[in-house]
Amino acid sequence: MRRITIIGTGYVGLVSGAGLSEFGHHVICSDVDKNKIKELKSGQIPIYERGLESLVKQNVAKGRLHFSWDVHKVIQDSEIIFITVGTPQGNNGESDLGAVESVAKAIGENLNGYKVICTKSTVPVGTGKWIEDIIRTIQPNADFDYVSNPEFLREGAAIKDFMHPDRVVIGTRTSKALEVMREVYRALYINETPILSTSVETAEMVKYASNAFLALKISYINEIANLCEMVGADVHEVARAMGLDGRISPKFLHPGPGFGGSCFPKDMHALVATGLKNNSPLPTIEAAIKTNVSQKTRMVGKLKRLINDLNGKTVAVLGLAFKPQTDDVREAASKVVVSELVKSGVIVHAYDPIAIENFKNHFPDINYFGSWQGAVKDADACIILTEWNEFRGMDLGELKTLMKVPIILDTKNILNIQELESLDFTYDNVGRRKSE
Ligand code: UDX
Ligand code: UDX
Repeated sequence: MRRITIIGTGYVGLVSGAGLSEFGHHVICSDVDKNKIKELKSGQIPIYERGLESLVKQNVAKGRLHFSWDVHKVIQDSEIIFITVGTPQGNNGESDLGAVESVAKAIGENLNGYKVICTKSTVPVGTGKWIEDIIRTIQPNADFDYVSNPEFLREGAAIKDFMHPDRVVIGTRTSKALEVMREVYRALYINETPILSTSVETAEMVKYASNAFLALKISYINEIANLCEMVGADVHEVARAMGLDGRISPKFLHPGPGFGGSCFPKDMHALVATGLKNNSPLPTIEAAIKTNVSQKTRMVGKLKRLINDLNGKTVAVLGLAFKPQTDDVREAASKVVVSELVKSGVIVHAYDPIAIENFKNHFPDINYFGSWQGAVKDADACIILTEWNEFRGMDLGELKTLMKVPIILDTKNILNIQELESLDFTYDNVGRRKSE
């Protein structure tokens, strides 16, 4: 059992802290945001993540998981410190490392014996060295080792991804630090999770190379989908046939309105910035970013072709979260689509099972409804932007009777085309047959 501190109790920090306490370690999650810590101390979970509340509660009850806003004290009391503060996109695409810097300084000021300092937040290659220099500037003789241990958590599946990772990547400079980290993840030995030992810089690169590749795959299938529309091919069948090739895999070949989230967009910009800074540009990633931006606005163009004059029309927007099973709307396609619709004079009726509160912070003046039925009532058109199960199972007969005009744009290709045709819907999607 190790004494671990998590600094930055956001979505990654809280999931990682709860997971590590489940592995049997003594974990303190800390954050500068006192309200967040007060919420957590009172048993409230500030983020929506399936299974997180019970995981936190179980480990708090067992006395393995604690919360504190006294960052200095928790640094002094721990052997291993995980940095999981936000690294949002700064200007010119580079990561904003302000939070990382303030945490590194706090660590430098409070080191009181050998510790392993481990960054889990996504940080540009070379940040590890920068953090070490900050700490050594404050305490030249500081006794510590630095580790890069990137996270591969998907929102909505973060607990599963933490407890059953495909791999654990540990970037270190000493065998001593590697041994400590192997002990941290000892619980994973049982199911033989590959624990990969690399250099610090390699571990930092693995995160970006992985995330940017996944995002590239999505932009690729979106471009193929758009071409399928022009040549009369069906992207679902193309993707299925592609995915049967083990080298391609069927994963992340689902076309849509463009990817969102707090990771893909910012990680791609950060990687491109790293490439330019090191005189080794990544034009494929730059292209994938451009494709993703245009895919979102392409959806509005599709709607304009379905309704021709948008001004004064009522459009139901079903799905605001950037993906299902999360309330997160960061970089969601819905933000671009709703913004364009409002600019075009559309009366927007919005519904999402759990993301409405977050979306309201960005669009307080559109109409929100408690159900998809309420949102589509008397609508001139409907657009599906997030593949929530309740939209997959939507009764299309009911949908038709509720709408003023049966026009639907299914950007996630979840509806049955034959059924739409039998009900005389005017419909469109991404990469499949559309109504004449
Ligand atoms: C973060 C990074 O943004 C992302 O790059 C990485 O892939 C995963 O970790 P996330 O957990 O979503 O993602 O960050 P965020 O939701 O912004 O939470 C960070 C937390 O750190 C916040 O609660 C913030 O209050 C806290 N924080 C910020 C500190 O505790 N100290 C600081 O100095 C600054
Ligand atoms: C991603 C990575 O999957 C994860 O490994 C990393 O740690 C953080 O970033 P996340 O952003 O939470 O996770 O969600 P993910 O499931 O990857 O989806 C990201 C976006 O891509 C969503 O908008 C989703 O709708 C979209 N997507 C995903 C597609 O459009 N098509 C696909 O086939 C898969």
